[in-house]
Parts: sequence; C-alpha cells; structure tokens
Amino acid sequence: MEVGIPPHGGRLVNRIQEERALEERWIQTLPRIILDAWTLADVELIAVGAYSPLEGFMGKDDYESVLERKRLANGLPWTIPITLAVTPTDAEKLGEREPVVLTDQRGRALGLLDLEQKYRVDKKREARLVFATTDAAHPGVRRLYETGDVYLAGKICLFYRPQRSEYEPYWLNPADARRVFHQRGWRTIVGFQTRNPIHRAHEYIQKCALEIVDGLFLHPLVGETKSDDIPTPVRMRCYEVLLRHYYPLERVVLGVYPAAMRYAGPREAVFHAIVRKNYGCTHFIVGRDHAGVGKYYGSFDAHRIFEEFDPGELGITPLFFDNAFYCRRCGGMASAKTCPHGASDRLTLSGTEVRRRLRAGEPLPPEFTRPEVAEVLAQAFREGG
Ligand code: ADX
Repeated sequence: MEVGIPPHGGRLVNRIQEERALEERWIQTLPRIILDAWTLADVELIAVGAYSPLEGFMGKDDYESVLERKRLANGLPWTIPITLAVTPTDAEKLGEREPVVLTDQRGRALGLLDLEQKYRVDKKREARLVFATTDAAHPGVRRLYETGDVYLAGKICLFYRPQRSEYEPYWLNPADARRVFHQRGWRTIVGFQTRNPIHRAHEYIQKCALEIVDGLFLHPLVGETKSDDIPTPVRMRCYEVLLRHYYPLERVVLGVYPAAMRYAGPREAVFHAIVRKNYGCTHFIVGRDHAGVGKYYGSFDAHRIFEEFDPGELGITPLFFDNAFYCRRCGGMASAKTCPHGASDRLTLSGTEVRRRLRAGEPLPPEFTRPEVAEVLAQAFREGG
C-alpha cells in the first residue's frame, strides 16, 4: 500500500519487471521499435505509476473516449491521449498480440510492449480536440503531425528504470515522493508544474499556496520543450539558488518530472493535476495560461476546464491564481484581486522580453527575478550565446 492520497484509479501502477529481462534469448527474436526521447519518457512515466491507472499505451476505446469526453472508457477523468505512434509501414511488420521490444536510440532493449491493438487515427481531429487548433505552428500540433498515423496499444513494462546521472538527487518517482512527504509529516502538499525558471510571480503564487498547506513539491518538467524555452540544466541551477536563498528548505521538495511538454493548455492542466496526485500531491497550482503557448488559449481557460469535473472524481484540489505581478505602489507582488492600481504601476515582462534582455546583456529587474536567479540566467546566456 502506498502512503498518502489515493492515486488516480486507486492503485499506483508499477510496470518495472526486472525478471523479464532474463528472457534474453527470446527477447532477441522479437520485433523492435526505437523510441524517441518523448515516447521513452511516457514509457517511463507509465512504468513508475505517474500515469496511473494506465499500464500501457491507450487502445482505441480509451483514445476515443479521452478525445470526446475527457475521460477514459471507464469514466475516469483523463484529458491527454497517451499513445505510441508508428508509420503504417512499421505497423504492418508487427503482428497483433505479439510482444515488441522497446529500445532507446542506441538500440538498447529497455522493455516490452505487449501489443494488443493497432489503429489508424485522424491527426487533424486529434489536434482540434486536444489542442483546440489544427495549426502546425503550435509546437504540440507540429509534433503530433510529425509522428506516424498508426497507434500501437497494449501494456508495457520496463526491465529497469532508465539510469540517469543528470539531475540527481531530484529523480523521485511517485512512490519515492510519497515516502518523502510522509517522512516529513506533511498531510497536505501543493504541486507546482513549471517549464521556466522561477520568477517572482511563480514564487508569489507558490508561497501563497504554502500559507495554507504543509509542503511544496516543486516539480519542473524536464522532458522535451520547445527550442526557445530555457534549457533544463540552466533551470535546475536557477531552482537550486532560489530555494537556497528564499525558501524554508524544510517546507520544499524539488523533484523532476520527465515528461515532454505538450502545450495543450487547459487539457494539459487537468492532466498535470492528475499526474501530480499520483506523486502524492493533495493540491495543485493552476495560474495564468497554464501549459499555454502563443495566443492559442485564453488566460484562464485552464481554470474553467476544471468545472467539467466533480471535485471528488479528480481527487486533487486545484488552486487557481490570477495573473501575478509586481506593483510599485503596493511595494510587492500582487494580482488584480489584491491590487487596485493601474497598468503603469505594474511590472510584467513577457518571455520574449526576458530573452531579449538576456541576449543584449541587460539586467533583469529584481522586481521580476531574484538577483541570484538573474545571475544564473545571465551567465548561461553569456556562455551559450
Ligand atoms: S507552464 O507551461 O509550465 O504552465 P510556467 O512555467 O510559466 O509554464 O508556469 C508554471 C505555473 O505558473 C502555471 O500554473 C502557470 O499558470 C503559472 N504562472 C506563470 N506565470 C504566472 C503569472 N504571472 N501569474 C500567475 N500565474 C502564473
């Protein structure tokens, strides 16, 4: 029995099956699929239970139901398809009901897919329903269009958890995170998803949340992101200096979330919340334009989507935050809910403006970024160009 809040569907999935690696001779006779980093991250997240109750890649029933109803076929809320795409030619080489070896780019056998079903999909329809746009300029849609048109479904297993030297000691799987929260005596934990360095607005909403819960799980996504997002190793250094200088360490756990970023806005917000419940969070922060990109979603669409679910069926409490900023007249961080002043008193910088300043070697104001974080970013830009 895992400690803490019940996982989605009631049980934390574990699909790490070391004993199956021993069937080496048989494994060598099986067909193989080479996984890219994106899909490999999904395999890993399924295997360690982050995507509980999924035990593998979705079959057609679940896929259709997620697209049309934002639920698995059994009615459990789920908003993002978790699928394994291959080209029709590759799919033809595989027999249904046959195991397939999953390998990394170097051809190392990592695990198995017990192939149960192959089905063809309409990518435009998926894009429209999941991303609310069919525009190939959207990074999530572009990636969707680049992958094959046939999805392979079935349970997966990994022979072992992929070994990683990077980001140690932050590599916590859901069972580890639950154990740490339990050891710290936390009963309520707020999860924070991010793909960016922590700016003052993030810090403000985290600390507002921390006022009402026992602990903060800072859970940056470290899988694939779009090319102009700040690289993960730089972000990790930002998180470390920020925590060291501005957070009570006994109230924060930093862990990495290996998934790729979909940029699916509202649907991804619900998905992020469910996954963080599996890591043991009881609360989850959803701020302005969560998981958004460009102008594809309204600033608070990711709040409204939660109204489509009964609180009991999600099993994690979303904490919604309005747009946060520094107000010169208030002399601190605030939002439209707490600050009566006008736009000219408020300091907000877009991601584009932040990158421009960094590239030009201009300082980031302390009202926007803590100086220690600004220094890490400035140094990274000096070194990396
Ligand atoms: S995200 O793609 O991971 O959502 P980001 O790292 O920028 O992007 O955001 C992390 C979380 O902070 C999200 O919940 C987002 O809505 C929230 N957020 C980011 N900036 C602000 C802001 N200025 N005001 C309120 N919430 C914000």
